[in-house]
Amino acid sequence: MKHKSTLFLKELNKNMVTKEYVSWLNDHETMRYTEQRFLKHDMMTVKNYVNNIKRSKTEFLFGIFINHLEKKIHIGNIKLGPINKYHKNAYISFFIGNKRFLNMGYGTNAIKEVLIIAKKKYKLNKIYAGAYSLNKQSIKILKKNKFVLEGNFKKAVKFNEKYINHFIFGKIL
Ligand SMILES: CC(C)(COP(=O)(O)OP(=O)(O)OC[C@H]1O[C@@H](n2cnc3c(N)ncnc32)[C@H](O)[C@@H]1OP(=O)(O)O)[C@@H](O)C(=O)NCCC(=O)NCCS
Repeated sequence: MKHKSTLFLKELNKNMVTKEYVSWLNDHETMRYTEQRFLKHDMMTVKNYVNNIKRSKTEFLFGIFINHLEKKIHIGNIKLGPINKYHKNAYISFFIGNKRFLNMGYGTNAIKEVLIIAKKKYKLNKIYAGAYSLNKQSIKILKKNKFVLEGNFKKAVKFNEKYINHFIFGKIL
């Protein structure tokens, strides 16, 4: 099923951290292909993290919000940064934490929106995203946004006691 709601990105501040958001970061299934899986998060660590990024000049953390049953709800995050201001490039990373809204096109659209911000607001010309080779969903949404595979780091990350490849995707804006 494809999404019915319009998505929007909103820069997060510490007052927007909820118990639900903290639980996404502790969800081993959601975080299985990210380095977050090694960390234990709580309200304080997440508020501190969000606050530090809010004060940073090179990293920008956006909540992915949708209008659902007349309410604006937070379903995941997408981060732009670190930005290299000289080279005008940046990394992005993202997740949909609320599993009810997976596979509805929101991940694809969140990337589309953050690319517009990267180009229009921050005047960037190159965006990178990393993905474990097994992360089919992430690879799919990067390709749908016309990212291309630029780097294949062989057996670079350990996943379930096996070493697997780490991909770097890139897109010129
Ligand atoms: C990657 C992620 C953000 C995708 O979000 P999403 O909102 O479900 O993405 P979309 O609905 O836009 O697209 C998902 C695509 O993956 C496909 N897909 C889903 N499961 C799949 C699987 N097991 N194998 C292959 N493709 C799969 C879907 O069919 C869909 O493609 P389609 O639109 O052509 O049908 C989400 O899966 C997630 O949060 N994963 C965990 C966090 C993560 O790994 N983040 C990336 C690391 S930086």
